[in-house]
Amino acid sequence: MRKVCALILVVALAGCGESMDRQNRLKTYGEAHGLAPGWPGQGEALVPPAGTVSQNAAARDKALATPPPVNPALLFRGRERYEIYCAPCHGLTGAGDGVIVRRGFPRPKSFDDPDQRQAPADRLLSAIGNGFGRMYSFSDRVEPADRWAIVAYIRALQLAGKGKATP
Ligand code: HEC
Repeated sequence: MRKVCALILVVALAGCGESMDRQNRLKTYGEAHGLAPGWPGQGEALVPPAGTVSQNAAARDKALATPPPVNPALLFRGRERYEIYCAPCHGLTGAGDGVIVRRGFPRPKSFDDPDQRQAPADRLLSAIGNGFGRMYSFSDRVEPADRWAIVAYIRALQLAGKGKATP
């Protein structure tokens, strides 16, 4: 029995100090320390030349600048996306009582709040694309066309007077 205990202790202690924080790694734009001889830059990745734009940036900018026609298909899409990305905090009715808020995340205003009702579409779009205060940006998850669909659905919630149910 003693031998078994000793063995367990040795195995357990051998695992100490092997934190993944301490492994060798390169920093994206940091020094490569000669690990990649012949590589034109100093780091693991090359710094993009000045004026570089990301792929499809122009198409995304155009989609953001052009409100799509509001029709049932857009609202259904908006509802689906809203319930995936926004409802966890803003709640299914927009009251600001989503499950994450009930577990302690700061509570956003209800979309039925006069300030939110009067907010122009640009402000809602910007909150999704750039984030707002403690809310992070959804630009990597919600494409511009879907941002418009979500905004249309939020307007529908506001018109329906939703978000009043819970204080
Ligand atoms: C993790 C929680 C969380 C998620 C998910 C979330 N929000 Fe928010 N949102 C907040 C909080 C908190 C605030 C208030 C932030 C503050 O005042 O600092 C806020 C504020 C806003 C505002 C108010 C902006 C203004 O100008 O007053 C809008 C609009 C908004 N969110 C829309 C959305 C939409 C649309 C989605 C889904 C794509 C979404 N939010 C997802 C937490 C969230």
